[in-house]
Amino acid sequence: MKTKSEFLSTEIVQLLNYRVEQEEFSSRTYLSMSLWSIDKGYLGAGKLFKKYSEEELEHAGKARAMLLANGVQPITSALKQPEQEFENLPKAIQIAFAHETEITKQCYALTKAAYKEENYMVAELGLWYCKEQAEELDKFQNLLDRCNAFGEKSDMLRELDEEMEKLSE
Ligand SMILES: [Fe+2]
Ligand SMILES: [Fe+2]
Repeated sequence: MKTKSEFLSTEIVQLLNYRVEQEEFSSRTYLSMSLWSIDKGYLGAGKLFKKYSEEELEHAGKARAMLLANGVQPITSALKQPEQEFENLPKAIQIAFAHETEITKQCYALTKAAYKEENYMVAELGLWYCKEQAEELDKFQNLLDRCNAFGEKSDMLRELDEEMEKLSE
């Protein structure tokens, strides 16, 4: 179904608004992880999660810009509260990886819908999100691999925190 935009169908508008919402939710998820990390003494992890939180806001902006470019006002939605407590740092990383896996599926769905409608403008944006997801999965996969390889003792967590600090620079 057509909207007032010549190029965006109702389904695509809904998917783009969903992208805005979910990228903002990702931002808040990482903000929450950042605050938890700092509170628990993992200052490096705190910095890295803060950086990720800011990047997610840029991702949200991309879908917003596409809606605006087509004369559609993006929805500024209410967001559910992200988790506030994490068992430990590796567990937070695990949750982040699972979250990015879910987001990747959403980005595939957006891209698929855009191609189905031969909406190449949105398909290209969808591909950008998918490519970005490969990087996001890689980041958390590497951190998870480290946790699996070296365990969860406090020395290891300290090194992990230092490494996360380097990644935040
Ligand atoms: Fe993102
Ligand atoms: Fe992400």
